[in-house]
Amino acid sequence: MIRKGPFKGRTVAVVNDLGRDEQLYLYKKARELKEAALSGGDLSAFRLGERDYQVYLIFMEDSTRTRESFRNAAEFLGSRVNVFDAATSSFNKNESIADTIRMLAGYAEDSAFVIRSKLEGVCRSLEGPMARYAEQFGRPVPAFINAGDGKHEHPTQEFLDEFSFLEQLGWKRDRIHLALTGDLYHGRTVHSKVDGLGIYDEVVVDLVAPELLGMPAHYVEKMRRKGYDVRLYESLDEYLASGKVAPIWYFTRLQLERMGDAVLEKADSLRGALTFRKDMLGKLPEGTRFYHPLPRDRSRPTNPTFLDELPLNGWDAQSANGYWTRIVLLGMVSGLLGADFDGSPRPSPSFDENFIVEAPVAEHPVREYKVGIKPVEEGIVIDHIASGSPIEVIWSNIDAARRILGLNVRSSHGVYHNNKGSFKGIISLPDVTSFGERDLKKLAAIAPGCTLNLIRGSRVVKKYRLAMPPRIYAFDEISCKNPACVSAPAHQEGVVPEFLRKDAEAGEAATTFICKYCEREHAFREIWDV
Ligand code: NCD
Repeated sequence: MIRKGPFKGRTVAVVNDLGRDEQLYLYKKARELKEAALSGGDLSAFRLGERDYQVYLIFMEDSTRTRESFRNAAEFLGSRVNVFDAATSSFNKNESIADTIRMLAGYAEDSAFVIRSKLEGVCRSLEGPMARYAEQFGRPVPAFINAGDGKHEHPTQEFLDEFSFLEQLGWKRDRIHLALTGDLYHGRTVHSKVDGLGIYDEVVVDLVAPELLGMPAHYVEKMRRKGYDVRLYESLDEYLASGKVAPIWYFTRLQLERMGDAVLEKADSLRGALTFRKDMLGKLPEGTRFYHPLPRDRSRPTNPTFLDELPLNGWDAQSANGYWTRIVLLGMVSGLLGADFDGSPRPSPSFDENFIVEAPVAEHPVREYKVGIKPVEEGIVIDHIASGSPIEVIWSNIDAARRILGLNVRSSHGVYHNNKGSFKGIISLPDVTSFGERDLKKLAAIAPGCTLNLIRGSRVVKKYRLAMPPRIYAFDEISCKNPACVSAPAHQEGVVPEFLRKDAEAGEAATTFICKYCEREHAFREIWDV
């Protein structure tokens, strides 16, 4: 039987794939489940008991806790569970991830895929194509759950972390003060905190890491935009001396496997700044708890073993919470849980695709535009290219527009004064009478702010202003510049590149674009390969 709960088939590639209320629902249900389980209560509401529901665990990177807690969670649920062995699979015969998933999806009536990979954005890349596959074969849409993708995100770890913090806070969400320490640069679990901490009314985050392992700037910026009070420290000693120490500490391992040689060489001294010592114990606020997603390094842990039997040890209970929260998450995406959800659903992004706006045609003097020295009589003139930008940017945009649109026709172009005392580019195309929609989109994406003038009888008869589009996608000349992104051409995964304008929802004409898959930020010119 296929269940139809409100979260059925939901992909959880990043924390925010569950809205705030949806995350709170997950914590509430996990609390109910844990309490019932520990007191011998009735757990039947949490059991799917459906052999036609298949949970695939696909771990292309090492894992113990995440994989085993998902395996146990799926077994509790009563679905079929399959641990797909990536190491001996056709990935080694150069098969793409998408083809492998299509094959596996054919083996059960309904399925969820839990995927860990070095490539960033894998779950997001499968969500759309596999929804179409499901429709083609009359199947329910499969869910994709990110179990850690490169150094991007680890949303299910975030859910168990927040669940553990809520337990410590007695389920109060008015304020959280926590320290994140360790490898904040390569650690995906701390990156997921940026959104996961959004369930609290007030957030104070202390980031404790030497600069080389510091939280990437765009995450810090995002936390500040969300209104978090963010403070930065270079070492545990500096932090403890500050006198403003948090009662919740979240340690992370140095992610040696992701470090380049330059950082790796310094690993020992970096670790020194981040390792907790006995003499620090007296400087902690009362009731402090330490958390860690684990594993810790067995020879040089930053949360050393002398802490294991102290009340400070929060990580063992935290690790066990992975089981409860993952049962609930699988219960939600399988459609079993959710009938009692009464919060707001996650907002779905909406884009104003209307970036081509007809502009009024002023009483232009006849023969305004020229090709060479001759006026344009019939044709198209692209004006205001990169207006106000430095001259080299204007030339580069003219060049890019010409190459991307394949403007190998009789024409002229140049850089001219605009009416604001700076410069702009113009391309005159006397023989071109119209542009297709796709070319207009390309032009808007390569030279936002430009105008397109239709000339008839030497007069501008129509004028369109092309604004920065909210999405740039499916052009051959764009690609994500994050080498770890699943859509990066080198991986040949056949993922169609797509970029979303930052703050597009707020309607701002921002010039930063975010890769839909790995969420790497790109300056708008950077997404183009030309
Ligand atoms: C974390 C991970 O894989 O990102 N571990 C986990 O999921 N339990 C953290 C780590 O590997 O250090």
